[in-house]
Amino acid sequence: MQITVVGSINLDFVATAPKLPRAGETVTGATLARHPGGKGANQALAAQRLMRGAPGDDEVLMIGRVGRDSMAEEAMALLLADDVDIGHVIADAEAPTGVALIAVDPEGENQIVVAAGANHLASPEQLPARIDCPLIVQLELPIDTVEAAVGRATEFVCVNLAPAAPVSDQLLRRADLIVVNETEAAFYGDLLHHGGGRVVVTKGAKGAVMYHRGVEMAWATPPKVRAVDATGAGDCFVGAITVALLEGMEPQAALTFACAAGAIAATRPGAQPSMPTRKEVDAILKAH
Ligand code: RIB
Ligand code: NA
Repeated sequence: MQITVVGSINLDFVATAPKLPRAGETVTGATLARHPGGKGANQALAAQRLMRGAPGDDEVLMIGRVGRDSMAEEAMALLLADDVDIGHVIADAEAPTGVALIAVDPEGENQIVVAAGANHLASPEQLPARIDCPLIVQLELPIDTVEAAVGRATEFVCVNLAPAAPVSDQLLRRADLIVVNETEAAFYGDLLHHGGGRVVVTKGAKGAVMYHRGVEMAWATPPKVRAVDATGAGDCFVGAITVALLEGMEPQAALTFACAAGAIAATRPGAQPSMPTRKEVDAILKAH
């Protein structure tokens, strides 16, 4: 199986703090870590680790833009280590690699500020004329680039509307699968259900619901876990549900699989370092 991800690549600076700051507040006593992140790259890595086929058979192709700087290498280190194809990622001299400043509290809740840098220079020109394999996109690249990618896709398209932003009706109708969290679902409202595709609303520890034309068709809850850092859990879910549906799992089973994968990601620090393998997800599903 092959999957193309068109999306963001960031380096995450993660401060684990005693609590999250309010506006104007200074919180001290944090510890700092740096991890590869970016919703696009996170989803690419999640999909790559979860695909089941023989090594070499399964491959995720990542398309995006980084800076021509040392952060780029750090941001793509895990994609490289797990054999995600990064040959179509452009290193741009005009802007730095995207950076996310993330604060995480003891309950694993986070606050994220993204400085998109080179991600915002990702352009339709760098996309192939046709994308002839399943495609995953999010909204951390310029919207015209996201729209162009979806317009050139000839197979299954998963659109993760994160972070929420206005998109064309055409894009919403073209999506075979739309994934949103509750905040994003509220932003789009009924628009989500106008196409013929499936819509999944994720609800964190409460699980996820799948709709078809506005009618609930399946729901699942994740195994109970102790969250330490929910960063990347939603991205893990997106990669997982795409792989599951492409493998032909029924909606209910696919949701259960993706909830379990997301739950594991929430038990570990960082976004990309927390992405589980197929073995780990199968094991937690067996145990529950
Ligand atoms: O969804 C989590 C991601 O959002 C982080 O890795 C950060 O880079 C931001 O893009
Ligand atoms: Na995590």
